[in-house]
Amino acid sequence: MVRTSISIESSRILVVDDTPANLDLFSQILESEGYQVSFATNGKDALKLASLDKPDLILLDIMMPEIDGIETCRQMKQLRDIREVPVIFITAKTDRKDVVDGFAVGAVDFITKPVQHEEVCARVRCHLQIQALIKLRDELIRMLCKHNERIEALVEEQNKKILQTEKLAAIGEMVGEFTHEINTPVGIAITALSYMAEQTELITKSFNDNTLNREDFSTFLSANKDSVDIANNNLKRMLSLIQSFKRVTINQCNDERALFNFGECLSDIVMSMQPKIKHTKHKIVLDCDNEMLIFSYPGVFAQIFINMINNSLLHGFDDIEEGDIRLTARFEDNALIVLISDDGKGIQDSLLDKIFDKFYTSKRGEEGSGLGLHIVKGLVKDTLGGSIVCRNVLQGGCEFKIDIPLDNLIESHLEQKLEVR
Ligand SMILES: Nc1ncnc2c1ncn2[C@@H]1O[C@H](COP(=O)(O)OP(=O)(O)OP(=O)(O)O)[C@@H](O)[C@H]1O
Ligand SMILES: [Mg+2]
Repeated sequence: MVRTSISIESSRILVVDDTPANLDLFSQILESEGYQVSFATNGKDALKLASLDKPDLILLDIMMPEIDGIETCRQMKQLRDIREVPVIFITAKTDRKDVVDGFAVGAVDFITKPVQHEEVCARVRCHLQIQALIKLRDELIRMLCKHNERIEALVEEQNKKILQTEKLAAIGEMVGEFTHEINTPVGIAITALSYMAEQTELITKSFNDNTLNREDFSTFLSANKDSVDIANNNLKRMLSLIQSFKRVTINQCNDERALFNFGECLSDIVMSMQPKIKHTKHKIVLDCDNEMLIFSYPGVFAQIFINMINNSLLHGFDDIEEGDIRLTARFEDNALIVLISDDGKGIQDSLLDKIFDKFYTSKRGEEGSGLGLHIVKGLVKDTLGGSIVCRNVLQGGCEFKIDIPLDNLIESHLEQKLEVR
């Protein structure tokens, strides 16, 4: 619990003076105010006592034999435990040089002899209060830092949960669209096979009745071949959909680093986004070498591209009926360069830096949470060890450029292959 009020009663004050009469006088004044007073008659003792007792304030005479007040104060300010204790100098002189030297070694104030009761009380009270406020401030700062750390940890944990939820939501959405998508080839294959079954039953009956003629049999064979072809093509299409879907979802769920074909990974992602865009007039165009072996995180790439394709559909083509999303990947200057662009409405230039900020969205209260690009940037930077920037393009729309140094994509046994390329 932090103290919210400051109290200076019963503060501990060390008075240092080589004249016993002065010590008596200070003792009377300060004890009448309720302070606890201790004394030293020379600089050496003062240093020892201060280190042991750690007083709240020190009143220090300047003119003392051996080590004078200025030197005593200078040495006190070098001791870690007492360097923060305020020192008020007591001086008989009104010498400006003493004042300047005193402030230079860290004094906070001066009291000139002969001392006035009220003046001593006022100056001591003022500096004790300042000191108490400084302690309170430091305590508050410490507490705020601790709270801050706790809040940052909570936000971090929350972000991880959001990231996981977003991942699952994307997979969930894909599953829905995918199931819908494979319905068609499965339906066609079933229809073709049912037709084949019916025809086989009819032909079997004719055969058993001895009414089967050559022409009917030939028609049956030809219909049968068509049905097999139809069923075959549709089942093949289904298989390829299942395979890409499987790869993308497995990748998305998998946080492991692996050796994989980047071109294939991109085309799987494009394929798995097809069900979503095939009801629109938008197109995803992929421009990438098929043989791009890298050692990295396929799941992270899947998450990045799904996020960005969704952004083009949601933001870039907001009021635009027909547009292209282009994914280009190439090795260039010892880096993997990936460009994701669309010919949509683009992004206001002044917002190009903001779009990566946590919670920035132009669709607040609608579909946007403003985390997508923040997460993407974190993944590109922290997990893939690359960078991402965005710019508007002249022809309209915007282009994101991801740049990942090849060093971060190579497992030692890959190096040779990439050198040959
Ligand atoms: N391709 C794009 N075309 C136009 N604006 C874009 C595009 N991509 C991103 N933006 C802008 O950047 C903002 C931030 O994108 P981000 O993906 O971080 O959040 P979001 O899509 O709004 O919400 P979500 O967290 O659901 O992804 C968007 O709200 C949009 O204004
Ligand atoms: Mg988004």
